Amino acid sequence: MAVPVRNNDDRERVRDASDIVRVIGEHLTLKAKGREYVGLCPFHDDSKPSMTVSPAKQIFKCFACGAGGDVFSFIEKYHNMEFRESLEYLAERANIKLSAFQRHEPGVETGEQVISRNDLVQANASAADFFKAVLRHSEHGAAAREIIARRGISPEMVERFNIGASPARWDGLLMTIEKKGMNARAFAEAGLLKTRESDGTYYDSFRNRLMFPIQDQIGRYIAFGGRKIDEADEPKYLNSPETRLFQKSGTLFGLHQASRSIQTERTAIITEGYTDTIACHQAGITNVVATLGTALTRGHAAVLRRLCETVVLLFDGDDAGSRAADRAVEVFFAEEIDVKIATLAGKTDAKDPDELLKRDGGADVLRSVIASSRDLLAYRFERLRESLAGAGVNALSRAITDDLTRMVQLGFNSIPMLRRRLIVRQIASIVGQDEQVIWRAIPGGRPSGQAPQTEAKPLSVPTDPRRRRFQDALGCLMCDPSLWRELTDAEHELLDPGNLDAGDEHDVADAVVTLASGGVSCDVGAVCGRLENAAAQSLATQWAARVESDTDVRAYLKDCLRGLASFEVDTSIEARRRQHAATGGNRRLIPRPVQGR
Ligand code: UTP
Ligand code: MN
Repeated sequence: MAVPVRNNDDRERVRDASDIVRVIGEHLTLKAKGREYVGLCPFHDDSKPSMTVSPAKQIFKCFACGAGGDVFSFIEKYHNMEFRESLEYLAERANIKLSAFQRHEPGVETGEQVISRNDLVQANASAADFFKAVLRHSEHGAAAREIIARRGISPEMVERFNIGASPARWDGLLMTIEKKGMNARAFAEAGLLKTRESDGTYYDSFRNRLMFPIQDQIGRYIAFGGRKIDEADEPKYLNSPETRLFQKSGTLFGLHQASRSIQTERTAIITEGYTDTIACHQAGITNVVATLGTALTRGHAAVLRRLCETVVLLFDGDDAGSRAADRAVEVFFAEEIDVKIATLAGKTDAKDPDELLKRDGGADVLRSVIASSRDLLAYRFERLRESLAGAGVNALSRAITDDLTRMVQLGFNSIPMLRRRLIVRQIASIVGQDEQVIWRAIPGGRPSGQAPQTEAKPLSVPTDPRRRRFQDALGCLMCDPSLWRELTDAEHELLDPGNLDAGDEHDVADAVVTLASGGVSCDVGAVCGRLENAAAQSLATQWAARVESDTDVRAYLKDCLRGLASFEVDTSIEARRRQHAATGGNRRLIPRPVQGR
């Protein structure tokens, strides 16, 4: 292939310097496939990689929605830019000076000229420069520098996040705009200036604040968050209003700084605040971003799922975690991305990651918090179970049913069936129930391909009266754990799991008796929590569920125990047990017979 002739045309020079695979790869994760690359198409709701990028042809093409073009069209389409903006962006990225390049400052006002998106970007960029200059200013930046020092934000982070300061006056930015002859209307529309009602003149929106610029994925300034410097000011954080450039719900603070590392780690960690994100980066955990005081939204998830597979929501406390876990379910249903929850609760008394990271060894604690994050649905059901600890099985099953109903409200029934099945399977194993039981509890949720079930499948009840009494007695205890203490030693002995063959039944009985005799509640939630396999969890739930809600549990338990006592000791079992013990086995555990039972 001939060496390409260097063209003086700006467009050609920039194109030659902007490999399409690298540029698109900075926006979404691409995987090599033969001589091309594939990735999730950002221009439609893509679930399998439909977009192909060809390095040889330097084009992209989506086979599902038809989007396609060269590196400029990708940038224009992805960032909603005009050609000139994409050219400038790619030129800057490649360190190319455009021949006809003049920095496009928002021009002097000429009548009713329309403010373009690019004018807003330029206004924010000029403001960011101004705020950085203020932070360096010996007098006007002193208070802000002192806060930065007190909070332990390093100079590297000040630079990486382009932190600045707004001066403690009403016309700091305004004077700069006027001095440079820039268009104040663009700054007003960007939310950087406000208009006095009395005379229509402008004044600065941000005064005496530490300024955190909010940048988009490619580093353009689209908004600001300003933290008060004077404790007496309100509010604590002031954000730019939403504009054509900036929608809170789709924006992540720190994404520009974190996106490379989110791609390599295949995980994005989301914190609650700006300072938490900055502290994490400072501690070397760089795949971290923050939402802007909102919950995780579809917009966030749509951006992130093109970069990684897993999102970890890192929360200060369990309350915030629970609330967010509720909202995140909606997002999880809508976007194919795994969502996990991590909270500091129980791991440290630090109030947030920022505070934790200031302590010795804080980074290690934070890493372990992140490593022990729980899957969203598991976290949700676990919290449900915790909140109902000690309540009877009916309360638990009602709560699970309510929760499944809530999931339907959150859009469960409109997600693809394959994904729905996977979710039901996951829930079934979390709550220890058969998948069928879960399907039945989901309003309108039965998979269409399945034979309709006109009535709920009855719980299987053993015909052997002795086994039935044994199971029911344990069921009673799982419904009302306090009854254990009322039983005599002889009655406890009747519930000895050693009376059963090894297997799920034995494991359930063992869990109940071990918990109860250890002085811990053996409610069905606790028993399920102790059991490792889903079949045993399901069995425990069934035994407890067989105890009807209107049963006098104490009386019925006594009844079952009297029944059990009246049965003769099964000599064959007793004989096998003795033999097992004699050969060194655990007397309480009878090995499963090789065949049959
Ligand atoms: P926090 O109050 O936890 O702030 O709010 P923080 O990050 O710990 O800040 P410092 O350490 O006190 O400076 C968490 C996030 O909620 C949003 C901001 O995004 C903040 O980072 N927030 C908070 C607001 O938007 N407005 C507020 O008044 C407060
Ligand atoms: Mn905080």
